[in-house]
Amino acid sequence: MNLRESETRKNLLRAFAGESQARNRYTMAAGKAAELKLQVIQQVFLFTADQEKEHAEIFYKHLKELNGENLEIDGAYPIEVYDDALTLLKAARHNEYEEYENVYPSFAKIAQEEGFTAVAASFRQIAEIEKIHGDRFGQFEKLMEQNQLFQSSGEEIYMCLNCGHIYTGKKVPETCPVCKHDKGYFIRMDMAPFTRG
Ligand SMILES: [Fe+2]
Ligand SMILES: [Fe+2]
Repeated sequence: MNLRESETRKNLLRAFAGESQARNRYTMAAGKAAELKLQVIQQVFLFTADQEKEHAEIFYKHLKELNGENLEIDGAYPIEVYDDALTLLKAARHNEYEEYENVYPSFAKIAQEEGFTAVAASFRQIAEIEKIHGDRFGQFEKLMEQNQLFQSSGEEIYMCLNCGHIYTGKKVPETCPVCKHDKGYFIRMDMAPFTRG
């Protein structure tokens, strides 16, 4: 099938719109988290926002042969202007799972049926990543709900995301003893993007 007559071209543009909006939502959520002095949540949102930008680019590039055209699409997109980090995390987790479970598998199936194998692969591969995003947001959501973001019942290793200081204990200090940044920068070592291995 010609891409110009396909449903896949619309799904690619829908996915581009969805990823672009996710990137903006997460960037705004990061700003809110920073306001709330939850820099660890800010960084999780920024880390994910950058990846959504890459997803947007992958989908957009599949449309290259339609350069110069305008395409009308419809779609439903979430409105989530929340003022607390927990609700922002919940909403993000929900949207990631929605993409993973429903939206991208259905786009992949249609792309496959229409003969766009590479596009179908992108939808499937990115769906898998959205599951990881959803899981990660969910982990932070759970820690916040249980008031365990900066403390734990047993000894835990934390890393200051600002200076890299490693703290071991049940509760992080109010400020990092090395860089004096707020405790909001501490992340559980096993959740840090770069661990000591
Ligand atoms: Fe994405
Ligand atoms: Fe995602």
